[in-house]
Formats: sequence, structure tokens, C-alpha cells
Amino acid sequence: MFNNNTIQRFTGIETPFYYYDMEVLKQTLGACRDASLKYGFHVHYAMKANFNPQVLKAVQAYGFGADCVSGNEVIAAIENGFGKEKVVFAGVGKSDREINDALDADIFCFNVESVQELEIINELAAAKNKVAGVAIRINPNVDAHTHHFITTGLDENKFGINTWQLNDVADALRKLKNIKFLGIHFHIGSQITDMEVYRSLCIRINEIQDWFEDHGFSVKVLNTGGGLGVDYYNPDTNIPDFESYFKVFSKFLNVKPGQEVHFELGRALVAQSASLIARVLYVKNGQKKNFLVLDAGMTELMRPMLYQAYHSIENLSGQEPVGSGHLAEDNQSPFTINRSPVKYDVVGPICESTDCFRKDVDLPQSYRGDLIAIRTAGAYGEVMASNYNLRNKVQSVYSEPIA
Ligand code: LLP
Repeated sequence: MFNNNTIQRFTGIETPFYYYDMEVLKQTLGACRDASLKYGFHVHYAMKANFNPQVLKAVQAYGFGADCVSGNEVIAAIENGFGKEKVVFAGVGKSDREINDALDADIFCFNVESVQELEIINELAAAKNKVAGVAIRINPNVDAHTHHFITTGLDENKFGINTWQLNDVADALRKLKNIKFLGIHFHIGSQITDMEVYRSLCIRINEIQDWFEDHGFSVKVLNTGGGLGVDYYNPDTNIPDFESYFKVFSKFLNVKPGQEVHFELGRALVAQSASLIARVLYVKNGQKKNFLVLDAGMTELMRPMLYQAYHSIENLSGQEPVGSGHLAEDNQSPFTINRSPVKYDVVGPICESTDCFRKDVDLPQSYRGDLIAIRTAGAYGEVMASNYNLRNKVQSVYSEPIA
């Protein structure tokens, strides 16, 4: 991902920033599009993973729809060229204003998470003389075997409607006249790498769609959600295995004539296209630990602190041949620089003990001013940044000029 020219370019840019390799992004999008088209599947990009406008424009150009979780995401999707007929609005707590915005935008579908929400959408749609398309999000009680903070499909989770409530859903759907039932929606979690989990999901979806058909509803859309994981340990293995993923659904999902199968992929489409680039501010050598204090922290990339997530960390300056211009700490000859391996705790500048990207990272001996890349940061990175400690908004840099 980083050739000498790229690293050279970084030296003139103020850190920290997200670096987007648009080529990696396009290759990933192309691979997903081709694999999904092979099976006739529809993919909506889960915008929450990254709503950077340059990313949205690239995703949209590959023909994907948009899966939005706020009124603002709905508006941003449409502003960035996603057709309204390909916009889905999900989320457990849609406000009246957000529902109204989405009704005004005439989006394709609301993924609905409770009977009460169905009633509110019906009421707001009636006031506008509109009919809202809905899919019912059902909690299939399938364990995604992923980090418990990003598991969503168990009975104990706040998401979706549990199967024992389906009779109430059916009654509401029959009664509410400004609602059009389109289908059923599921999402069991994120960073799922075990394809067995998706097989179990398919089996549950088949049972639940039969239940709806048996109760007189025609299920046009089967929305299986997102969650396909990426390989955080090998950041240069760029393309997730979309083929194996879609194949599971084509094999185990009981797709009836005229039905559409929808997916909501976020992470798998964008994670590998970006790295967070920071500089070493200070090197603290202790008796027990060596610390690299970076100018980026949990305010720029929260995942390691929130989910104990692994991100590969590289010293880009350490990749330079010794003597290529980096002065040794004593400011004498660049040829005296020592780049033998050292273990560091790589930490940020924020006043919180949890502000640590990783402990005991093997890196070449590092110096103040070295450029550090924290890899596979394109999903849930920039979008989860904050200005805690009144930090500046993190900037973005792209591998090619932006349109
Ligand atoms: N659909 C729904 C209803 C979702 O809640 C999510 C993600 C997705 C689709 C997209 O899932 P993906 O394909 O990206 O796995 N911040 C966490 C991940 C939270 C995921 C939330 N929902 C992280 O950094 O790992």
C-alpha cells in the first residue's frame, strides 16, 4: 500500500490523517459487485462504516444502494448520488423528524424494529398521504460468535423484533393502511468470519419467511444484513472473500421466484482502503516498558480501545533504508541510526489510560518524528472520531486527486 513516493508525500502533510488508497477501494468494490451480480443479489452499502463523501461517491459509482441509520445519512446518500429507490433506512430509534425526512425523500424501505415504530411510521405517512415500504427486522437468535459489543442477533440484544411477537406484527401489518410490507430483515453482528454462522442464519430466515407466507404475506425482499469480516492481521490481503460469502446464501437460502435478496455490507467494502497515519511525538523508555506516544489516539481511531480490536501497526520511516535521510536521535550522522527491533506500547496523547492502540508491538527502533501507519482503518475509523479533549477534526488524504 505504501511505496516510497507515498511515504515521501506524507512527510509534507500535517498528521494525524486518514489515508485512503482509492485503488484498493475500487478493487474491493469491483470484486463485491461482480460476486453479487453472479447470484443476482443486491448490496446496500452500510454507510455507517464510512460516510466520507469521497468514499460514498466511489461506492455509488459501482451501483450499490445505501443502508442508512439516521435521517442525515438518508440525506447524505441522496446528495451523493444514491437513487432513492436504492435507499433503506434502518435503526432501532428513528425520530419523527428522521422518519419525515425519509418519507419526503421517497426512499425504498424502512427496516422496522418494533410494532410501535410501525404505528408511528404509518401515522406520519398517513399525514403526508403516502405509503411507506417496510421490512420487519427480526431477531433470529443466531449467535454471530464475534465480539459481544458488536453482536446484535440474540434475544438479549435491543435490536429487532423477537419471533414470539410476530403475531402482533402480523395484526399491525393487516391493520395499518399507510404501510406496505416488503419483506424481512436480519442483522446478527459484525466482523463475522465464520461462514457457518451465515448458514445458520439462512436456516432461520427460511423458517421465518415460511411463517409470513403461511400467514398470508408475500415476502418480496429477504434482507440478510451485513457483517462480513476482514483480515485485520494481513492488511495487504486486500479483497475479502465475497465469493464464498454470497455462495453460502445462494446454497442455503430458500429464494422463491420473484424474491430479491439484499445485503448490507459496510466493513468488508471499505476497511482495507484506509490507514490512520500518525507521527511519533515522544519515545519513553522505561524499565519495564517502552512507549511510543503518537499524535493520534482514541479520538481518531476508537476501535482498539472500545472493542480491543487488533490493527496492524507499521513504522513507515523504519522501512527506509538506513541512512536515507532520517537523522539519528543525537542529530549526528543519518548512518548511525539504529533500527533493530524493539517492543513498544503504542499509545495516544489522550488523558485516559485506555488510550492505547496496542501493547508490546514489535517495531524497528523508533524515533520522534517517525511516521506510523495503523492499518485497516477504513471502516468505523474516521466516522467514529471525536473531538474529546477539544482535538481537531481528523483530516483525510487520498491517493488520487478528488473529483
Ligand atoms: N446492517 C445493520 C443493521 C447494522 O447494524 C450494521 C452494523 C451493518 C448492516 C453493517 O455491518 P458490517 O458489514 O459493517 O459489519 N463499530 C463497530 C461495528 C459496529 C457495527 C454496527 N452495525 C466496529 O468498529 O467494529
